[in-house]
Amino acid sequence: MGEYHIRGGNQLYGQLRINGGKNAILPILASVMLNGSESVIHNCPKISDTLISIQILESIGCKTKMEGATLIVDSSTLNSWEVPADLVREMRSSIIFLGGLLGRCKRVKISYPGGCELGARPIDLHLKALRLLGADIVEKHGFILCSADKRLTGACIHLDFPSVGATENIMLTAALADGETVITNAAREPEIQDLQVFLNTMGAQISGAGTGSIVIRGVKKLHDAEHTVMPDRIVAGTFLAAAAITGGKIELTNIVPEHLYPITAKLSETGCALRMERNSVYLEAPSRLRPIETLRTSPHPGFPTDMQPQFMSLLSVANGVSVINETVFESRNKHVAELKRMGADIILSSDGLTSVVKGTPKLNGAIVESKDLRGGAALILAGLAAEGSTVVMNSKHVERGYEQIEESLKAIGADITFRKL
Ligand code: UD1
Repeated sequence: MGEYHIRGGNQLYGQLRINGGKNAILPILASVMLNGSESVIHNCPKISDTLISIQILESIGCKTKMEGATLIVDSSTLNSWEVPADLVREMRSSIIFLGGLLGRCKRVKISYPGGCELGARPIDLHLKALRLLGADIVEKHGFILCSADKRLTGACIHLDFPSVGATENIMLTAALADGETVITNAAREPEIQDLQVFLNTMGAQISGAGTGSIVIRGVKKLHDAEHTVMPDRIVAGTFLAAAAITGGKIELTNIVPEHLYPITAKLSETGCALRMERNSVYLEAPSRLRPIETLRTSPHPGFPTDMQPQFMSLLSVANGVSVINETVFESRNKHVAELKRMGADIILSSDGLTSVVKGTPKLNGAIVESKDLRGGAALILAGLAAEGSTVVMNSKHVERGYEQIEESLKAIGADITFRKL
């Protein structure tokens, strides 16, 4: 645990390489046990969520070894189908271990992840889908007990909402089930495509990821696999926003341009000049950003909710009024009160979903508290642009998804230090 100390005002210039994606590595780590043998995963981000996933794997008997950014997992020694409750509490997305363990052991006990900093985040879609695949599910004393004494069998599953986690849980459970599973209204996020590539490398037969319809033909057995995790599109978006808010210029390498289109389209609207090459993106910011009439979050390929807070910081210093409409998470706006401490002019609707942001020429430094991962990143961006000093407390949220963010920002000219508490 620590805090970030920032002296605002430096324009950011330079080049950064983007590491593997948080939302890509987590479902991959929840699926490594499916092959009962070895998985070699390159480009692993060293973030706290990866470390918690590794602890979960070790707690159920897998052997893990980290060599640089390569993680080797041997799941032949797996000896438990219970995910420790304290680790589930640490990381809400550990719910994807439900599908991995159900697929491998046909049985799993996991504590209910409950609410989180972004709102209630129910898992009804996950459980409904797994029941359709033949799982018996009992919810008791805060635990989910899931078993499939009979075989798991393929099914047609229509998701009421294209949930990322539910789509992943179905893919993991159906990979070793009997027969064919078809998911309609599946999540289309690029991380789902990366998961499909990884599972197919193990011998699964999955097609359609990246579209709303995914077909999984169950196979009897999976085998060793080697995979390189896709780059983190949200980390990339955050660094583009950091350059934009400071009036700087940045080049990011190791990115997939089409993954960034929903973000770069909106950065163009703020007046930033962008150029994409095969695996890099270059951004040059204007002296003052333009507002965005309406910024509405939605599932991919819409504007990602995971970039909404960072854009709120940008629009707080834009030349005019912007409206931001959050449609994915009910409690995504905890950063609003903190940005207001820094002089941002934001009016949040009573349902907490719509923000009217009136840009001011300058924010002022302040002591603010990070309440969640992307909100914390947004406060760091605001600090980079603010006059004077900013302290962003409670670094643990930011560390869940950014690998030493202060080192990357320092490398492109920011005056930022991390103080461990
Ligand atoms: C994933 C990402 C997260 C991102 C989110 C939306 C990972 C590890 N996390 O989270 O960074 O912000 O996608 O892009 O990949 N919902 C239900 N019932 C369910 C499941 C979801 O009502 O059974 C609701 C949620 O409460 C939320 C919305 O659907 O309001 C989106 O959730 P979902 O797509 O499942 O997000 P996650 O997989 O949790």
